[in-house]
This record gives sequence, C-alpha cells and structure tokens, in this order.
Amino acid sequence: MRQTLLIVLLTIFFCTKVHAAGDAAKPIKVDWSFNGFFGKFDRAQLQRGFQVYKEVCASCHSMKYLSYRNLGEKGGPEFSEKEVKAIAASYQIKDGPNEQGEMFERAGLPRDKFKSPYPNKKAARAVNGGAYPPDMSVLVKARAGGSNYIYSILMGYDENPPREIKIEDGVYYNKFMAGKKIRMSKPLNEGSVEYTDGTKATVSQMSKDVTAFLTWTAEPHLEKRKRIGFKTIIYLLIFSLLVFLSMKKIWSRVETKM
Ligand code: HEC
Repeated sequence: MRQTLLIVLLTIFFCTKVHAAGDAAKPIKVDWSFNGFFGKFDRAQLQRGFQVYKEVCASCHSMKYLSYRNLGEKGGPEFSEKEVKAIAASYQIKDGPNEQGEMFERAGLPRDKFKSPYPNKKAARAVNGGAYPPDMSVLVKARAGGSNYIYSILMGYDENPPREIKIEDGVYYNKFMAGKKIRMSKPLNEGSVEYTDGTKATVSQMSKDVTAFLTWTAEPHLEKRKRIGFKTIIYLLIFSLLVFLSMKKIWSRVETKM
C-alpha cells in the first residue's frame, strides 16, 4: 500500500517537472569569457554589445537601473569619461520644471538614467501588439538559463517552423521560448550594426556581444565577486596549512606509546 502511494507521488513529481520545463529547446551552451573561476568580461565585446543595445534593442527595451556614468565604471565596458559624456549627450532628456514652471528638454548628462523608449508600460504594450518588452537591466538574472538563454532566443528564429505549429499574426516561431512562440520579431539580422573595431557583424557575433553586455548590466560586480572568491580560497588554503602545522607541533609533544 505504502509502496504504491510512493510510486504515485514520485510519478506526479516527475511529470510536473517535465511539464514545467515546457517544450522549449535547451539553451545553446556558449563558452563565455566570463565563465568559470577566473572569468572576466571582454572589454571590447561589452562596448560592441552596448552598441547593439543602443542601436537595436533600446528602441523597445528599457534599462531603468542603469545610468550613463555606469558605462565608464571599472569592471564594465569602461568607456572613457569623454565617451560617456558624448553617449549621454546624444539623448534628449526631459527635465524641469524651470522658473516658468515648464518642463524642458536638455542634452543628457552622465548622471542621467538610461532613457526609456516609452513613457509607461501601457504605451509599450500598445506599440507592441499587447506584448511587453521586458526591462533589460536584470533580464539575464531573471531568466533560467541566463546568458545562454538570451543568446539562444536571439539565435532561435526560423522562418520555416515545423508544420504542426500554428503561427498567428504578430507571433514568431522561436524554439527556445516556452510554447515555441515569441511576440518579438527577429531583432538582429546580418549587418544590423556596423562595428567600428572591424569585427564582422554576423547575427551570432551581435547576439553574443549584446548578451555579454546584458550579463554585465545584470551583474556589474561579477569580476569583483570572482576576484574576492579567489582571494578567499587562497586565504583558506594558507589558514588550513597553518592549522595543520600547529596541530603537528602540539601533538609532537605527546609521546606515543606503541
Ligand atoms: C520592435 C521592438 C523590439 C526590439 C527592437 C527588440 N525587442 Fe526584445 N522583445 C520585444 C517584445 C514585445 C518582447 C516580449 C515578447 C513576448 O512576450 O512574447 C520581447 C522579449 C524579449 C526577450 C525575452 C524573452 C523572454 O524570456 O521573455 C529577450 C531576451 C529579448 N526581447 C531580447 C532582445 C534583444 C537582445 C534585442 C536587441 C538585439 C531586442 N530584444 C530587440 C520587442 C522588441
């Protein structure tokens, strides 16, 4: 009796697990520069990734936790002060009210938050056929599969979906989404941006670059965290060695009778 109950419970457990994972394909595994114990961001890649975000994604996806000055901070894309000022100044930011009580527009400053493409969520939905383009500040952290998942979504479009899948208007086939459908049209196509460092802007390259950038925005202190982790391990190793040596010394005074 108890055994059957156990089997039933286990079956339910495993079935729900499989169901929860949905029918989405497993994310592609990428060998990121920031993977592993000594992982670090590739500065040039973060700068290219910002370019992709700015020129493509930013027209729909906001980045509300970031300020332009973050782009110059250590551990990130590390743009120079001059570059950060120029990036900020390329946006018109609403400010005010002035002495006359009116709101006005001015050129952006490094301390300004990233400009949002829409005034509010409803406006964002209205333009995107009811779908909301999620804020990108911490998107990598918010999705299971993290960086690999984001990269896979960007690579997962296919103009010829399997015949059994019905694709409605305004919906696109993407095998990495739960339900294999997404309401974002393929954002990156060959040459969507023109890189200044000579890197060829293939879909895979741009997808990797923008994903690396989004990984940094979601975890700006990744490099520091890994550095501290490394130092802690070294410290623990030395500490264990000292404990071992002092134990040996203490016990050496005890006569062992055999
Ligand atoms: C034309 C507007 C538009 C552009 C440009 C755009 N997106 Fe999206 N994006 C959307 C919408 C709308 C959704 C919500 C889709 C849904 O819920 O089905 C979305 C969803 C996503 C998702 C989330 C999938 C999930 O798990 O919910 C990712 C990742 C994403 N976009 C990445 C990007 C990246 C990276 C770029 C730039 C290269 C980009 N998008 C450019 C409109 C856009």
